[in-house]
Amino acid sequence: LLHSAQLAAVGALAGCAGELPDVGSSGREVTPRSTVTDDPNESVTLTAAPGVESEAIDSSATWAYDGQTPGPELRVREGDVLGVKVANDLSEETTVHWHGVPVPNPVDGVPGVTQEPISPGETFDYKFRAEPAGTYFYHSHVGLQLDRGLLGPLIVEERDPHVEYDRDVVVVFDDYLAGEPRLPADTGTGGGMGGGMGGGMMGDVRPPYEGHLVNGRLPSDPTRFEVTEGERVRFRFVNAASATVYGVRMAGHEMTITHADGRPVEPVDADSFAFGAGERYDAVVEATNPGTWVLQADALDGNEPPARAVLAYDGIDESSTPASPSSPTTRLGYGDLHAVSSLDGIGGSPDRTFDLTLSQGSGAYVWTIDGQAYPDADPLQIRPDEHVRIRMTNRSPVVHPMHLHGHFFRVGDAVKDTVLVPGHMGQVTIDFHADNPGRWLFHCHNLYHLDAGMARVLRYV
Ligand code: C2O
Ligand code: CU
Repeated sequence: LLHSAQLAAVGALAGCAGELPDVGSSGREVTPRSTVTDDPNESVTLTAAPGVESEAIDSSATWAYDGQTPGPELRVREGDVLGVKVANDLSEETTVHWHGVPVPNPVDGVPGVTQEPISPGETFDYKFRAEPAGTYFYHSHVGLQLDRGLLGPLIVEERDPHVEYDRDVVVVFDDYLAGEPRLPADTGTGGGMGGGMGGGMMGDVRPPYEGHLVNGRLPSDPTRFEVTEGERVRFRFVNAASATVYGVRMAGHEMTITHADGRPVEPVDADSFAFGAGERYDAVVEATNPGTWVLQADALDGNEPPARAVLAYDGIDESSTPASPSSPTTRLGYGDLHAVSSLDGIGGSPDRTFDLTLSQGSGAYVWTIDGQAYPDADPLQIRPDEHVRIRMTNRSPVVHPMHLHGHFFRVGDAVKDTVLVPGHMGQVTIDFHADNPGRWLFHCHNLYHLDAGMARVLRYV
C-alpha cells in the first residue's frame, strides 16, 4: 500500500516538474556523492525474517535481522567500505536505511524515493563508505516494520577519538510491542491503541507497548554490563524506539557526554539526558564505584515500566540487588552541546529558508508538515551547495523527533541528524549545507507519525 502510493508520488514528481516553483540557481555545484565502486573492507549479509531467538519476548509478531533484535552489531573503521547484502525472507517488501550516515542517495533505503523496495525472496546490495565515525543504527524503512524489531546498531570507529576510553559498549533502547503494529486509524476509533486523546480528532496514541528493552531484554532478565574498577567505558546509547522519548540515568555514576548523534561534542557531565526516537548519545563512564547499579531509561511519554540494565563490577556477587538511580538533578539540554567541529558551508545567512508547521490533521489519523501529508506532499526544493535553514513550529501537543536523511545539521551549537521539537508551539531551527545531491526524506521519527504522513522529500534541483 505504502509502496504503490510512494511510487505514484515519485512518478508525479517526475511528470510535472514544470509546475513546481522555480527555485532559481545558486550557480554553484557540488559533486554528487557517488556510489562506491571499491571492494568492501567488510561484507556481511543480513536476513530479514519473522521470528526471534529469545525466550523473554514473544516471537509471534517480532521480525528480526538474523533472528535477533536488535540485529547484529555492524562495526567498521571510519573510511572503510561496508557492503551489506540484505536478504528479504519476509512476506512483504522491505528496505534498510543507515540512520545518520550521509550515504550516497541510491543506498539510503527509502522505498519509492531512493530505491524500489526489496521484494520477498529477493536481495539488495547496499555499499557505502562508512564516514564520518559515529554511533548509528540501521532499520527497515517500510511501514511499521521498525516497530516489529527490524533494527540494529552500526558503529563506525574513529581512527583518532577526541576522548580517552578503554572500550565501548552499545546500548540499544527499544519500545517492545508484543502484538502486530498498526496505525490507530486501522483500529476504527483509535480506542484499541490505549493512550490519551491529545487534541485533533484522533488525538495522539501509543501502541500497546509491553515494556522497554535494553539490547533486546526486558527488565525481568536484564542485560548485565560487566565493568572493572578503574576502567573508562564508552556507552553508545541508541534510541531505536518507535514512539518513545527516554530519560536515561545511571545509578552511582556520572556520565560524561562525548557525542551527540555520533558527532563529537566538548565533553559535558550529566546525570541524565533525554532522547527521542532516532537520537544517539555517547557517554564515557569511569568505573570508580564498585557495586551493582541500575542503568534506567524511563519512557517519558508512556506509562510502561522503564527499561533497565545492570552495571556490575567484577567480583560482585551476582545475587546482590542493584541500586536504582536517584532522581535526576540536571538533565542535559541541547544548549549544553557544543560540537567539536561545526559544519562547513553554513556560515552567515541562509540561501534558503523553510518555515514548517508540524501539526495533526483532522478526521482520520493524519500527521502533517505544513498541512500536507506524505507521500502526496510537495517536495521541498533545494539547490546544491546552498545553506538551507528549516524553522519548525510544533502546533501539536506532542513532541516530534525530526530526522533529516543524508546530512547533518546544526542546531544551536550542536551538530545532529535528529532533533526533538517540543509540543505546544515549540520551535526549533536547523541549518545544513546541501552537499549531498539526491532526494532525501525529512520526517518525524515517531514511526506512527511518519506512517500517518509526517514527512517531506527534500529534492535537489
Ligand atoms: Cu531512522 Cu527515515 O529514518
Ligand atoms: Cu511526530
